[in-house]
Amino acid sequence: MFKHILIPTDGSETSRNAVKAGIKFAKEAGAQVTGLYVCPAFHVLTYQVEMLEASKEKFSKESARRAIKYLAEIESEAKHAGVACDAVSVVSDRPYEEIVRAALQKRCDLIIMASHGRRGVKGILLGSETQKVLAHSTIPVLVYR
Ligand SMILES: Nc1ncnc2c1ncn2[C@@H]1O[C@H](COP(=O)(O)OP(=O)(O)O)[C@@H](O)[C@H]1O
Ligand SMILES: [Mg+2]
Repeated sequence: MFKHILIPTDGSETSRNAVKAGIKFAKEAGAQVTGLYVCPAFHVLTYQVEMLEASKEKFSKESARRAIKYLAEIESEAKHAGVACDAVSVVSDRPYEEIVRAALQKRCDLIIMASHGRRGVKGILLGSETQKVLAHSTIPVLVYR
């Protein structure tokens, strides 16, 4: 039934578990997967122009390094399972918007994501992005706990 699954990750342990489960599910379903990491945008934190340039460059490098690392995890997991996989990263401060947008653009028919991410499980029913994806997505969402 499901043929193209979007698996967003923030690189957290809970996300990594959801990635593993999502890829197993894709294998059983005979589906392909798309991994997505949304990099936070750079914000001006200093009034010194020379520091700004230096910190922007550092920030971009760090972001690129994280994107490569998180997406490589999905790609290697998929490769190991023999599941076709594509991985993308975009820059935005609203991960849920990019998750919903990517699902539409890539014509995915299911999103698999963890119930919680980097901020963790303490006392909150659902993570902030997961809540918003559930509210805005027009395609099915599987929340992995
Ligand atoms: N920057 C991000 N890029 C891609 N996916 C994300 C990002 N942030 C959160 N997600 C998705 O949302 C899931 C839950 O994270 P989130 O809702 O942010 O929880 P928390 O509030 O605990 O950080 C993650 O497993 C991941 O699928
Ligand atoms: Mg989060």
